[in-house]
Amino acid sequence: MADRHFVVLDDAAALAAAAAEHIAGILERVGGRGAVCLTGGGTIGAVYRRLAQPDLAARLPLDRLDWFFGDERFVPESDPRSNAGQARAMLLDPLGVPAARIHAIPTDDPDPHTSARRYAATLAGFYGSDRLDPARPLFDLVLLGLGSDGHVASLFPGTPALAERDRWAVGVDTAGLAPFVPRISLTLPALASSRAMLFIVAGAEKRPVIAQLLAGADLPAARVRCAGPVLWLVDRAAAPDTLIEDRP
Ligand code: 6PG
Repeated sequence: MADRHFVVLDDAAALAAAAAEHIAGILERVGGRGAVCLTGGGTIGAVYRRLAQPDLAARLPLDRLDWFFGDERFVPESDPRSNAGQARAMLLDPLGVPAARIHAIPTDDPDPHTSARRYAATLAGFYGSDRLDPARPLFDLVLLGLGSDGHVASLFPGTPALAERDRWAVGVDTAGLAPFVPRISLTLPALASSRAMLFIVAGAEKRPVIAQLLAGADLPAARVRCAGPVLWLVDRAAAPDTLIEDRP
């Protein structure tokens, strides 16, 4: 995992504060029209709440930012498992982001594959082409969490979505991957089309998978690439000893 930089924070609150500050620091420097790719899961909630607070919110160029999602659960937005629902409630509505700037992944189609095709068209429409140019990243910042199995977005180990090279978004059948509901996920090439990437990882249950990644395991999170820096903000509970010198 070359060009990855890890920072260990004392606890989940310090992690949320550092992540929100880092996000504000990147977005306030965005020139022209910017695009952010949001993540789902539990860890990101505290980051959204901190970023929505007035001191950081004031630094965000909201009139120039569009908000996208790296993945979604195939449930209505009113469902508590909805990533878009969470982001709206904890971040985008408190910030007062205009609806036209929020690009949620649709989940009102007969199947996630149809929703994925629609979202790929939305991304290409925003980008202005259906071919990603390495010199012109789609996103200014991609936020990612990490699953205990090493998944990122909804790219699970051993699933066909992980090998996708052409499509920007795919439907993910999670049969056999309980408790996960069917998903829509951006693919590795789409996630890689970013000027910066931020992993936010918390909790002791994540320590084994981070240790595996540091040891070179070929998990989805190890395959993520980015045009710019990839920062891993990890709390102490999730950090393997190799990341913490002073752990007794
Ligand atoms: C999702 C996410 C997923 C998440 C990880 C970590 O929709 O579930 O996008 O990739 O980031 O599973 O989730 P936790 O923060 O809840 O551990």
